[in-house]
Amino acid sequence: MKFKKYYDLIKQQSEIYDKTQNCQVGQTWKYHLLPVIQNACMLAEKYGADKDVVEMAAIFHDYADLLDFANRENHHILGAELAEGVLLQDGFEQEFIDKVKCCIRNHRASVVNEKFSIEEICVADADAMSHLDSCVELVCWRAYLGETIEEANEFVKNKIKKSYAKMSKASQELMKEKYDSIMRVLL
Ligand SMILES: [Fe+2]
Ligand SMILES: [Fe+2]
Repeated sequence: MKFKKYYDLIKQQSEIYDKTQNCQVGQTWKYHLLPVIQNACMLAEKYGADKDVVEMAAIFHDYADLLDFANRENHHILGAELAEGVLLQDGFEQEFIDKVKCCIRNHRASVVNEKFSIEEICVADADAMSHLDSCVELVCWRAYLGETIEEANEFVKNKIKKSYAKMSKASQELMKEKYDSIMRVLL
């Protein structure tokens, strides 16, 4: 595995995060981070994007959140800076780092930023796709945070609607059947 060091770093940090969020340890890695990385790599291949940029950005995309959930609102901006710090120290070229940073900064479906590169689209779409893949985990996560079933359901439904709406047309096509099924199942 090419970026094993960074997989290990994020997996470790996500397990610390799970403990602070009172979640099952390993949950965030298994149901969010790894699916995002895998979806991003799959899309990079499908759409002809730079796979190294996409994979690295997917690995780090929620890093700021994992370090401190208080960073949630700005985790896309802070995460890009944090990734730069790590990658600079490890000798990556600034040009590569800048592309990774752009993908991290623009990964959020809820923050409407214009996406300029196919790599940015791959990471943002992969993040959005993972919300559909892990809709049950999302409901559980909101319940862990203390929400009622109705509140959790409402939150997840809105999140998935927003995620789907912000996907590229090609990724919407890929996910259409799953999206329609989820919308039928949620309250
Ligand atoms: Fe995020
Ligand atoms: Fe994410």
